[in-house]
Amino acid sequence: SLGAAPAVRRLADWDRERLTSLADEHGTPLYVFDPARVRENCRRLQNAFPDAEIQYAAKAHTARRTLETVHDAGLAIECASAGEVVRALDAGVPGSAVTYTAVNPPARDLAVVVDAWEANPDLTITAGAADTIDRLAERGFDGRLRLRVNPGVGAGHHEKVVTGGHPKFGVGLDRAPALAARIDRAFEFAGIHAHAGSGISGDDLADHRELVRRLGELARTLDAEGIPVGTIDVGGGFGVPYRGDAPALDLDAVAEATRAALGEVDATLAIEPGRYVVADAGVLLTRVNTVKETPEMVVAGVDAGMTTLLRPAMYDAYHAVRSLAPEASDRGQVGVTVAGPACETADLLCENRPLPRPALGDLLAIGNAGAYGYEMASTYNSRPRPAEVTVDGDPLRRRESLADVARLDAPEEQKRRGKE
Ligand code: LLP
Repeated sequence: SLGAAPAVRRLADWDRERLTSLADEHGTPLYVFDPARVRENCRRLQNAFPDAEIQYAAKAHTARRTLETVHDAGLAIECASAGEVVRALDAGVPGSAVTYTAVNPPARDLAVVVDAWEANPDLTITAGAADTIDRLAERGFDGRLRLRVNPGVGAGHHEKVVTGGHPKFGVGLDRAPALAARIDRAFEFAGIHAHAGSGISGDDLADHRELVRRLGELARTLDAEGIPVGTIDVGGGFGVPYRGDAPALDLDAVAEATRAALGEVDATLAIEPGRYVVADAGVLLTRVNTVKETPEMVVAGVDAGMTTLLRPAMYDAYHAVRSLAPEASDRGQVGVTVAGPACETADLLCENRPLPRPALGDLLAIGNAGAYGYEMASTYNSRPRPAEVTVDGDPLRRRESLADVARLDAPEEQKRRGKE
């Protein structure tokens, strides 16, 4: 049953034959995604945070089927852009379950979101700068508005994803009461928000607690000034174990620490997990195109790389790698560097990792590829983006063609190459 869902799904738990037949049928590189695991992860969050409003951070995996699955499981959707807002609404998510977190919002985003709000007056916007509030008012927006504060403390798996404490995000705690009062006068005040960062582990719990404590304190200050916050949104960031030996985050402990740190306050708790919902629901399949034995290491060149899965190149992120070749375990282990086809040394999915000796044509699986995998893919080197299917073989996103990649060239260019 869902209640008994395991805390972690490891790469080894995926069925080798199933993955192999999907790669044979759909080609590689191929993202494989399991909506059933998404439902389990939603349920695990709901069990740990029974009274909270859980908003899935759509940026982690934005396929329409995922938005539908998550909404169907009872979660709301947190959107990082107008595009995500439009896709959430298109997927059937009602405005009351949509939040748009405006970070330095481009005018086009504000125009689209305010239009969407006119049709869906229950949607919530989170603003993290005083002038964003002005710009929303200028566009006639007077709906649900949440204030993002800079909690002065953050955490995350890499400095590039620690948001809490960086001046880019939110308004200083000292300025929050005045801005909250302003929102309360001209809009529907929809609470306060802060986000520590992404990939919080058990070691970061003290930072998480401190962030929540500061939000609780702010809520009590506002309450005393006659501005009840209604909702305290403590952000997302719950990490998942990427290494085989890493422990799973103890979600119940996080929930308990959150409640304790919040203190006495009459408000609804909201959270915004992205990674936690989808990371272990996805794997990436890739095939070995080159094997090169060097004195230092064995290099396995594969058809996925930084344009398919950016995380290793961008954050030195660790992703488990598993050979799906049936006879691989007979070949013995060597230090293997799995390299993508791009013209950059950063384009390595792992370096000198002990793995079965690779051979041409081997299929490799990359774990925890469900979060920030497909979504961060690019067409750099004119490499079309991969396909994505469910583990049952349903299409989620079709493989991009070269024509797709080239279609935005200036028309003259397209004409010139029309016969291609
Ligand atoms: N809420 C806000 C305001 C956020 O900025 C984010 C993530 C989330 C929620 C969800 O965080 P999560 O629960 O997924 O950690 N590309 C990076 C992660 C960037 C996260 C950006 N903001 C990575 O691949 O590690």
